[in-house]
Amino acid sequence: MKDQELIRELNKILTLEHGHLGMYENLLNHRDKDIRRTFRRFMEIEKEHINKITGVILNLGGKTSILVEGGDIIGQIFGITVNATSDRDLIKAYSFIEKKSHQGYADFVARLESDPEIRNQFIAEIASSNMIEAQLMHLWLEDKLKNLN
Ligand SMILES: [Fe+2]
Repeated sequence: MKDQELIRELNKILTLEHGHLGMYENLLNHRDKDIRRTFRRFMEIEKEHINKITGVILNLGGKTSILVEGGDIIGQIFGITVNATSDRDLIKAYSFIEKKSHQGYADFVARLESDPEIRNQFIAEIASSNMIEAQLMHLWLEDKLKNLN
């Protein structure tokens, strides 16, 4: 993978991560204490994801750029209206988005791993930690869906 292409891919991921952060930032709107607490931690995790990807881009000598104009990143990328009416609809949408995020990372990591460039193996390791956390969040959301009344 050429550096320019790698930086472009990383900026796409960075854009999605900003979208994820936006999902959990409205945590105070939730009546359910369990959701509020969990989304607060998820928000911190998304900030960590943003920081990690930003670090990689800068270390590659690239520039970070958010590729979607305006605030509604998730809406524009996934065609989802996130101001869903019920907790159930919202959590279903978020679960789908985290599943997509995990799949996106898995594809990216596989591409990096098949690249002969040693440096890219290291970037794969950084990306895989975000990948695992996307899956953990997806699984928590799926579990929460089962227990919502
Ligand atoms: Fe994330």
